[in-house]
Amino acid sequence: TGILVPSPSSSTVPPVILTQDELKKIAAYKAVEYVESGMVLGLGTGSTAKHAVDRIGELLRQGKLENIIGIPTSKKTHEQAVSLGIPLSDLDSHPVIDLAIDGADEVDPHMNLVKGRGGSLLREKMVEGACKKFVVIVDETKLVKYVGGSGLAMPVEIIPFCWKFTATRLQNLFEYAGCTAKLRTFGENNEPFVTDNGNYIVDLYFKKDMGDLRAASDAILQLAGVVEHGMFLDMATTVIVAGELGVKVTNK
Ligand code: 5RP
Repeated sequence: TGILVPSPSSSTVPPVILTQDELKKIAAYKAVEYVESGMVLGLGTGSTAKHAVDRIGELLRQGKLENIIGIPTSKKTHEQAVSLGIPLSDLDSHPVIDLAIDGADEVDPHMNLVKGRGGSLLREKMVEGACKKFVVIVDETKLVKYVGGSGLAMPVEIIPFCWKFTATRLQNLFEYAGCTAKLRTFGENNEPFVTDNGNYIVDLYFKKDMGDLRAASDAILQLAGVVEHGMFLDMATTVIVAGELGVKVTNK
């Protein structure tokens, strides 16, 4: 699927079709304009964040950025950053991060997010919670009226011990919203998907909205067995959306 970019009406140039991945790249490159030499950077995870990490690597190689320290949000991003020669550290050594750049699965008009369909929500929340600025990069397909209400997964990272018990408790918590809880699996044998932290992910699907998001967040986090959930409430400071009509930047 592509997105039609209209050319000026007087132009004879045919309209350009940008793919979703090209839009992700446009948003990512725009976000990297916020990066300055000497910064400690949170490096996000996913196909959009990958473009930002690539771009940071490129600018370092060209000598246009210097003295960057990256804090990766997943093993995959760690590997990518190493391959690009980006110097890395961690939250123990750098508990305050200047800027993080990451994608999202859903973004609502209040800049609340759903993240974690790529499975890295825990490290993302730890790193992005330690940032002075958190820039979210998305293509316009990620915009929703209400996070968790898109009918798509809202991920919750749980410990493997008695996962069915925890999944059932999560589902029961949101019975009023028609919630179904499904263990995330992969492959032909439906092996449980295991996070970088050795945990499982239960994806919650809602028929109706959850109501008060902060109350929903608190209720999930109170369940023993839950490690973290994918709602990122009031964390983003900038959202960059690339779409049909260009790039839109919204600051908190
Ligand atoms: C991974 C994430 C990703 O940021 C989110 O899934 C968006 O991914 P993509 O940029 O590939 O659409 O939260 O845990």
